[in-house]
Amino acid sequence: MPVIVKPINFNNDMSNTDKQSGQIRQIPVNIVKNKETGAKKMADIIAGVIRAKQEKGENAVLGLATGSSPIAIYQELIRLHKEEGLSFKNVITFNLDEYVPMSPDSENSYNKFMFKNLFDHVDINKSNVHIPDGTIKLTEADDYCTEYEEAIKASGGLDIQLLGIGRSGHIGFNEPGSTKDSLTRLVELHPVTIADAAKDFGIGGSVPQRAITMGIKTILNAKKIILAAWGKDKAPILKEMIEGPVTTEIPASYLQYHHDVRVFADAEAANDLP
Ligand code: F6R
Repeated sequence: MPVIVKPINFNNDMSNTDKQSGQIRQIPVNIVKNKETGAKKMADIIAGVIRAKQEKGENAVLGLATGSSPIAIYQELIRLHKEEGLSFKNVITFNLDEYVPMSPDSENSYNKFMFKNLFDHVDINKSNVHIPDGTIKLTEADDYCTEYEEAIKASGGLDIQLLGIGRSGHIGFNEPGSTKDSLTRLVELHPVTIADAAKDFGIGGSVPQRAITMGIKTILNAKKIILAAWGKDKAPILKEMIEGPVTTEIPASYLQYHHDVRVFADAEAANDLP
């Protein structure tokens, strides 16, 4: 698919807009029949990165996401491992985020999620798994986040980053107001994100107000980015991310700066796109 360079729309409200004049691009969107079809395509892309690195005798460094969007992708990766011999022996992973405070053993932790939905079912070396530590003391968070960034760099950088998108416009937990230069850091969650997470925490459970997240710059430094959007709730934000101006108000719109990003959307999520 050709890459279309589109002009920054200076007629929009730019009060909170990133005015950096870097080249921005129309993000290519694959509209897929359903989530399962899209997940299969996305898993194939990730498997392709892993295999290409294997052939060169190198590690594949994956940036991974949690939430409902990647589950079908992880199921397909597990199937590729069990039925088609895809090995994760050369895979190093860095997850986007984790709630703070959060014990890694909690049912609501992203740590638990990742082992339950992927790592426990493939042959990854567990010492190659990196998930932000939700038990970190607030006073130690800055140093911890710097170390997380350094670990990504030391591994050779992210070969591919898998993303979902939040209704607040977040990627990772980069909520509105996040800057293009942001790195891994402690953040406050947006009320929409807290409301959306409440269903996972059940009646009486309270959603943490903070999280550690990779930054926008951390994400944009990935060599390749793929983003999954399933269901009608994602339609309005997907439209803003793809067609709107690049703005701190919609952090996902920063993806317009990336040279190799692709969105996979089902018909419902793509409903507001032309
Ligand atoms: C999760 C993450 C978030 C989610 C987003 C969409 O690690 O970083 O940005 O990708 O909130 O969540 P779902 O997929 O549950 O709609």
